[in-house]
Amino acid sequence: CGIVGYLGPREAYPIIIEGLKRLEYRGYDSAGIALFDGNDLKVSKTKGKVADLEARSEKEITKHGSVGIGHTRWATHGVPNDVNSHPHISNSGELVIIHNGIIENYESLKKELISRGYTFQSDTDTEVLVNLIEDVKKQEKVKLGKAVQIALNQVIGAYAIAVFDKNKPEEIVIARLGSPLAIGIGEDEFFIASDASPFLEYTKDAIYLEDEEMAIIRFHKGIKIRKIKDDSLVDPYIQKLQLNLEEIEKSGYDHFMLKEIHEQPKAITDTYRGRLLRHEAIIKMAGVEDNMKKFLNADRIIIVACGTSWHAGLVAEYIFEDLARVPVEVEYASEFRYRNPIITEKDVLIAISQSGETADTLAAIKLAKSKGAFVFGVCNVVGSSIARETDAGAYTHAGPEIGVASTKAFTTQITVLTLMALRLARAKGAISSSDFRNHLLELEMIPKKVEESLKSEAHIKMIADAYKDSHNCLYLGRGFNFPVALEGALKLKEISYIHAEGYPAAEMKHGPIALIDENMPVIVIATKKGHYEKVVSNIQEIKSRKGKIIGIVTQGDVQVKELADHVIEIPETLESLSPLLTTIPLQLLSYHIAVMLGKNVDQPRNLAKSVTVE
Ligand code: G6P
Repeated sequence: CGIVGYLGPREAYPIIIEGLKRLEYRGYDSAGIALFDGNDLKVSKTKGKVADLEARSEKEITKHGSVGIGHTRWATHGVPNDVNSHPHISNSGELVIIHNGIIENYESLKKELISRGYTFQSDTDTEVLVNLIEDVKKQEKVKLGKAVQIALNQVIGAYAIAVFDKNKPEEIVIARLGSPLAIGIGEDEFFIASDASPFLEYTKDAIYLEDEEMAIIRFHKGIKIRKIKDDSLVDPYIQKLQLNLEEIEKSGYDHFMLKEIHEQPKAITDTYRGRLLRHEAIIKMAGVEDNMKKFLNADRIIIVACGTSWHAGLVAEYIFEDLARVPVEVEYASEFRYRNPIITEKDVLIAISQSGETADTLAAIKLAKSKGAFVFGVCNVVGSSIARETDAGAYTHAGPEIGVASTKAFTTQITVLTLMALRLARAKGAISSSDFRNHLLELEMIPKKVEESLKSEAHIKMIADAYKDSHNCLYLGRGFNFPVALEGALKLKEISYIHAEGYPAAEMKHGPIALIDENMPVIVIATKKGHYEKVVSNIQEIKSRKGKIIGIVTQGDVQVKELADHVIEIPETLESLSPLLTTIPLQLLSYHIAVMLGKNVDQPRNLAKSVTVE
């Protein structure tokens, strides 16, 4: 979910609405706003997107007021409907709250409150929390800040909240545990948001709350930050934001996803810049260098991640094992954390996460750390929870990724992981110096080759048009490109809602082949060096069952061209680096199919970009 708040001299409504639009990637099944208009509290909320909220609030509320909070939701407790939308108001009508996260013990708290006469409109845990705060405030006769603190100490779960009292609207109280919260500090005005994007045009000064911290923000009086547990005061650390407005705008593209696909040459370059020093024939990564002993002594590397980041982990498994000769296991963070895994102090765990906030990944990290493993993070969002929780790490420098379907985060994750594998391979003596140099040279050429791959877009659009009405789609790849097949299928599912599956090409004969008929498009990654002949045989098997074949091939390919219905060419590169190129046409294919089907590419149904709940 996304949270925005404002306290200052301006009209809060437009700031909150525009802010919510920027945070919609965090969830978009309902939205709401609460404003104090000088006399009373005005609340408008609805199922649907921020645009629906705008339409509704137009009719429902006067949009004046310089204090307000807003929310865009990804439902956890209670279906997305108007009543379950945030903000939620306490029984007295005095307190109003927005919340991101889950209160796990909400049922017992709710029972207790019901026994005290409280009533509830919604099915949400959030409404329980606001009434709990109200109850504490009345029982203990304390101010709002203190009441929030006492209430949160009774709560089990995760949260980022913003709450205010309509009788004291010059003050907003916020708190975080597990879900991010930033405060933007302007001249006698304050902005609150899940990330800095809603207030970038107003201020570059920001405070990021740490877990278990709360802030009491008062108009004209400033901010007080306290630890929720022991009430101790925290010195606010004000950061200067590096982010620019252009980075979070579409810059002429129809969708963020398309912009981000096209940004990949730059994103990959930014990611290896300063790390890949070809002329000196070295790779410099401080996080790896400083902990080289841990890496070299590791019995194995465990990679944990979710979604697309998990696919990047799978690619890394092939690369680490091939180049650095270290055993690698790749795990879904959600499975790993709950299956009593065997972890020792000799394990190195690499956690991959674009947002750095994914709850399952974060929990897996905490588990591994508690067993003494060394944990290394590969994150895109600077200063995110995972980046802070890990012992060391390397950022991907993809820039903000806003489209819900991950694109440039994936290729930059692979870039970082490749650099790590190469560095380790060198340190272990697992790679010859000429092979190492060759890898550096080829990696440095990848952005140019991605650019070249992007030139097939018009051709891919034609293919998209021919297959957009398919109900199913199969993606096949082998070796380094097996995870790319999985990622290709995920991209199509996520944004076009066409059922798609990724498989290792050779596994096709053990099941999926039964699905093949003249209506089944099969996308086969068949690059020159990757078990080419074997993949060609798989293509023959598809063809003889009348499946439609779209081959992703190396420039100049002849054999697959003859067999396939369509081919999309990519430039030649080392097999270990080929996922950085084979991914590109698959991203474009999904994108164009989804656009042609009229789907909301940047905000596909039911998904959210950053999932801060289990
Ligand atoms: C969500 C997003 C995916 C993403 C996954 C992991 O499901 O929709 O695109 O791959 O979370 O996110 P992370 O930020 O940890 O990479």
